[in-house]
Amino acid sequence: MKIILLGAPGAGKGTQAAMLTEWFDIPQISTGDMLRTAVQEQSPMGIKAKEYMNSGELVPDAVVVGIVRERLQLDDCQQGFILDGFPRTQPQADALKLVLAELDKQLDSVVSLQVDTEALIERLTGRRTCADCGKGYHLKYEPPAQDGSCRSCGGRLTQREDDSEDTIRNRMQIYQQLTAPLENYYRSEGLLVVVDGMKEIPIVHQEIVSALQSH
Ligand code: AP5
Ligand code: MG
Ligand code: ZN
Repeated sequence: MKIILLGAPGAGKGTQAAMLTEWFDIPQISTGDMLRTAVQEQSPMGIKAKEYMNSGELVPDAVVVGIVRERLQLDDCQQGFILDGFPRTQPQADALKLVLAELDKQLDSVVSLQVDTEALIERLTGRRTCADCGKGYHLKYEPPAQDGSCRSCGGRLTQREDDSEDTIRNRMQIYQQLTAPLENYYRSEGLLVVVDGMKEIPIVHQEIVSALQSH
C-alpha cells in the first residue's frame, strides 16, 4: 500500500499514520518528524529548517524533496509507505511523481482527512508529545497518564513550538493557499479518497482502512 495522508495541521495525519503503520506493516514517512529530528540534532539542515518551522512557514521544496527521495529508496519502503505531511505544494507533488517513476512505484491512494477549523485549533492547542518515544496525546481526546506522563513509556510530555496560536493561524493559511489545491490535483489523477476526520480516532482509522480497501 503506497499512500499519502493529506490534511490541514491537526487533521490527524500523524495519529492515523501511526495506526496505519501497524495495520499494514509499512513505514510512516513524516517530513515534519524528520525535520524536527534534524532541528534537535542541530544538523546543518536542521539549523536552516528551524526558523521556517517555528514561524509556521514551509521549508523550501528542494530540502524536503531531497529528504523524501532518500527515504523512499530504503528497503523498508519496498512493500509500501505512508507519506504524512508530504507533498505540500504542487512542485513537491510533481517531484514525487518523478521520484516514484524512477523507482518504478505507483501511488495507490491519497487520503484527505476533513476536519473543521475550530476542531483543528482545539486539537493543536491540546496536543502533547512524549519526549522519549514520540507518542502523540491530546489533553482531552487522548489523555496521558494521571500524573501527566506517557502511558507507553512514562516519558515527559512536551508541546510543539509551532503549536502557539499565532503560528497555528499561519500554518492554516499556508495550508489553504499551497496544500489544499493538491486535493483537486489528486482527484484529477483518480487517486483521491475523502474521509471524515471529525469522528473519534478509532472510527476514523476504520473508515480509512475500508476506504483504502474498496478504492
Ligand atoms: P508537520 O509536522 O507535518 O505539521 P502539520 O502538517 O502542521 O500537521 P500536524 O503534525 O500539526 O497535525 P497532524 O495532522 O499530524 O495531527 P495529529 O495526528 O498530531 O509539519 C510541521 C512543519 O514542518 C511545517 O509547518 C513546515 O515548516 C515543515 N514541513 C513539514 N513537511 C513539510 C513539507 N512537505 N514541505 C515543507 N515544509 C514542511 O493530531 C493533532 C492532535 O489532535 C493530537 O493531539 C491528537 O491526539 C488529536 N487527534 C487526532 N485525531 C483526532 C480525532 N479524530 N479526534 C480528536 N482528537 C484527535
Ligand atoms: Mg503530524
Ligand atoms: Zn513515551
